[in-house]
Amino acid sequence: MSSETASRALEPPPAPALPVHVAIIMDGNGRWASRRLMSRVTGHEKGAETVRMVVRACRELGIAHLTLYAFSTENWQRPASEVNALMGLLRRFIDQERAELVRNGIRLHPIGRLERLPDDVREALGRVVDETRDNAGLRLHLALSYGGRDEIARAARRIAEAVQAGRMRPEKIDEAALAAALDTAGVPDPDLLIRTGGELRVSNFLLWQIAYTEIFVTPTLWPDFSRREFEAILADFGRRERRFGHL
Ligand code: FPP
Repeated sequence: MSSETASRALEPPPAPALPVHVAIIMDGNGRWASRRLMSRVTGHEKGAETVRMVVRACRELGIAHLTLYAFSTENWQRPASEVNALMGLLRRFIDQERAELVRNGIRLHPIGRLERLPDDVREALGRVVDETRDNAGLRLHLALSYGGRDEIARAARRIAEAVQAGRMRPEKIDEAALAAALDTAGVPDPDLLIRTGGELRVSNFLLWQIAYTEIFVTPTLWPDFSRREFEAILADFGRRERRFGHL
């Protein structure tokens, strides 16, 4: 063995690539609860604990962006009792996590049709957004009253208004212009999309942004999702070959 080969053999293997942006469809709270003869709301409460775990994990592992699908435009059609319980849970979560987010340098960025949220949820969000505005650590994007089609339609409307007002020429409308009009303007596209609960669909989540995202679906229900499984998925991501449509 040459000395060069020998010294290479002593080098640690290269660290697997870490995603810059992880997006998660947190599914399975209801099934987790009904299997235990508990209310769906109890499942969501348990799911909020998994949210805390995954936020902490991303911060500790050095992931720059985390987007969580917490409430979709379609979720408004659930029974009022479940919607109200989810809104209450969200408001309490935002209030309770406020100090933790500030202390840990996390910046909160809600996306979606926020004007549809109850006043107390919007106010709680606004307070934490203001307080975390200058944080430079993990960026936590919370998708609330969010739908990918709705986001694209709103972006199209913004662009149409800019054209109508003479601030933009139609020939300047391209992919970059559309991306800049989305709620996620300036945020890199997700590298990894995780869906818990086993369903093989994207459910109107980040439709524009996931064009080349790696997808990982686990049958684990969201309340049972663990740090160990999260890290195993990150390791799987690190082994994937991403080609972005190239050879
Ligand atoms: C889908 O599970 C989950 C939701 C609609 C809500 C997600 C909410 C949380 C994880 C908790 C609160 C969030 C935060 C950010 C504190 P489902 O009820 O559709 O499950 P099922 O498919 O088993 O019925």
